Amino acid sequence: MKQMMKTFAALGMLLLLAGMGSAASCEYSYDAPEEWGTVCNAPLCNQTMGAQSPIDLMPTATVATAAAIHPIYGSASGLEVENKGHTIQVSYNASTMFRIESTALGATRKVLQLHFHTPSEHTVNGMHYPLEMHVVHADASNNLAVLGIFFETSSMTSPLLQSVVANADDLAAKGDKAMASLDLTEVSKAGLSYWSYPGSLTTPPCSEGVSWMVLQSPLKASQAQIDAIEAIIGKSNRPTQPLAGRSVSSYRAPAAAAMSSNSMAAAMAADSDDDDSSATAGAALSGVNLALLVIMMTGLTVAVVVFGIRLQYITRLLLSLGAEVETAKPAAAKKSKGKGKKKGTLFWSDSTDTDEATDARTGLSYDESDEESS
Ligand SMILES: *[C@@H]1O[C@H](CO)[C@@H](O)[C@H](O)[C@H]1NC(C)=O
Ligand SMILES: *[C@@H]1O[C@H](CO)[C@@H](O)[C@H](O)[C@H]1NC(C)=O
Repeated sequence: MKQMMKTFAALGMLLLLAGMGSAASCEYSYDAPEEWGTVCNAPLCNQTMGAQSPIDLMPTATVATAAAIHPIYGSASGLEVENKGHTIQVSYNASTMFRIESTALGATRKVLQLHFHTPSEHTVNGMHYPLEMHVVHADASNNLAVLGIFFETSSMTSPLLQSVVANADDLAAKGDKAMASLDLTEVSKAGLSYWSYPGSLTTPPCSEGVSWMVLQSPLKASQAQIDAIEAIIGKSNRPTQPLAGRSVSSYRAPAAAAMSSNSMAAAMAADSDDDDSSATAGAALSGVNLALLVIMMTGLTVAVVVFGIRLQYITRLLLSLGAEVETAKPAAAKKSKGKGKKKGTLFWSDSTDTDEATDARTGLSYDESDEESS
């Protein structure tokens, strides 16, 4: 009985994998995803009120969750890499114990395969990354969990992608296969803050019941690496699907808090090219801030000194006025304070040069915004 169950499970897994690979039963096109249901006789692909994937992830519209994920990944050799037509797939087998664990998932799920999509299938605030990797896991009952990892263009190369890209020549045509060594531990470099939601396979038969986890911070890859993969698989992203009442959870990894906010900024400026350029911009900005701070501190010091001298002068003047002042002192003091303040104000208005410059600049920026609005 147990053996039979095992056989059924294995069979189910095979069918599932066959369904997931594009090399399987039907020829579907990313130019006409609305026809997948018909072309592949896959009714789930054309339902709009279900739990389909991918989706647009909106960080501000997520629900916090406390469940961390623990990918237990490593390096493996002799892995089969195959051009599946619409994707490049790296298959893992039972000999690797790579898996992902989380209280949100219940049972441990083992890595079955990973594959790529260009551009990303999930979007963040409506914006695509150039590449998304899907690490597909399953538990003993074939419940799927997919970890999505974005790649952003950078001056850095990704060792993980390189092991795939190195075989590009052997993977040019559908059905081409190669062997590769791959170190999946690079995934943890992205930090483990993630979004999760219940979804589906993003290819026919669009089966639902998939636990999606998408890392919030992208990994980095060179333009050449991303180009090499895109050259083989082409446009391979299913359009984002309606959320249809589902809620998206967000887990923020403590150590990756800063990292994930960086990633959000990166997502906002999805087109911005390099870390180097933004780092330079950041350095220049802090330089400007420093200069402003020095100017302000100097101004403040001068103001205090001038104010002090004036106050001294006024006090001496008041003292020389004698007893008469004695009764009027509070008011006079008040007045002197007011005068001092006025002087302070005067000091600041002495620096009208700066104000004028600012005005000139403001004028300039008005011109700019006029240009923008026209
Ligand atoms: C949905 O998919 C089925 C396949 O079962 C297909 O026959 C049907 O035409 C599709 N419906 C729509 C509205 O596209
Ligand atoms: C399974 O993977 C290991 C490496 O992880 C490899 O050595 C072995 O040849 C693979 N076996 C099959 C049947 O693909």
